[in-house]
Amino acid sequence: MKVKVREDYEEMSDTAAELALQVIREKPDCVLGLTAGSSPLGLYRRLHEAYHSGGIDFSRVRIFTLSEYIGLDAQDERSFAYYTRKNFCEGLNLSEDRIFMPDGMAADIAVECQRYGEAIEAAGGIDLMILGIGPNAHIGFNEPGPSFVPETHVVELSEATRAANARFFDSPADVPYWAVSMGMRDIMFARHVLLLASGPGKTEALVLAFDGDVTPKAPASLLQLHRGAVVIADETAARRLPKEMWETR
Ligand code: GLP
Repeated sequence: MKVKVREDYEEMSDTAAELALQVIREKPDCVLGLTAGSSPLGLYRRLHEAYHSGGIDFSRVRIFTLSEYIGLDAQDERSFAYYTRKNFCEGLNLSEDRIFMPDGMAADIAVECQRYGEAIEAAGGIDLMILGIGPNAHIGFNEPGPSFVPETHVVELSEATRAANARFFDSPADVPYWAVSMGMRDIMFARHVLLLASGPGKTEALVLAFDGDVTPKAPASLLQLHRGAVVIADETAARRLPKEMWETR
């Protein structure tokens, strides 16, 4: 597995934007899978810039978010729905009927998981999946566990993940215990995958995921088997990966 190593967050985001724009230009009606978090913000900003300078059109693009907290509604500023609207959808020519998100407030969450999985399938799967990585090597909200979960499912969040996400909440106790996430099959069937990792908090996660065995104890490790997965990291995040894995251009 090769990792594209860039000097810092901005360069990581530049490389991610080049690759993402290439996919969208090649397939203007492509389906994007979008993660939340700080990692892709620079990429999303660059996609906005490309749109505003006339370099790209989103009118035929569809988007699916990767996960959502259970118990937060879409107007809640801490929800991933809110994050995605604010940081991605707003200001692009992306119509409402092309935005797909799991509903964390659904009365029957099992039915909601089923509905979401079917919607992804009906869209023909994801063309470009944008991922971050959790400190325990989770992707979306696919947490470490005894096995990989293929389909959209309910997850009990680990303490590590709740702690990592506590910064978005008034107090750590407010972080929801449960979430909905796309499964590993949806991620692995994506035609292209970009995983972004930046900063010292991701150093260990990258080692767990890409410098060891494929294991459900580090869910991102399954990407080692994906033909089109590209990992882009800054030097700080990549510093403990063997230099043979580094691709600096
Ligand atoms: C959350 C999200 C993930 C995200 C990860 C890393 O738990 N569910 O999709 O990739 O955190 O977030 P960040 O990029 O802010 O470090």
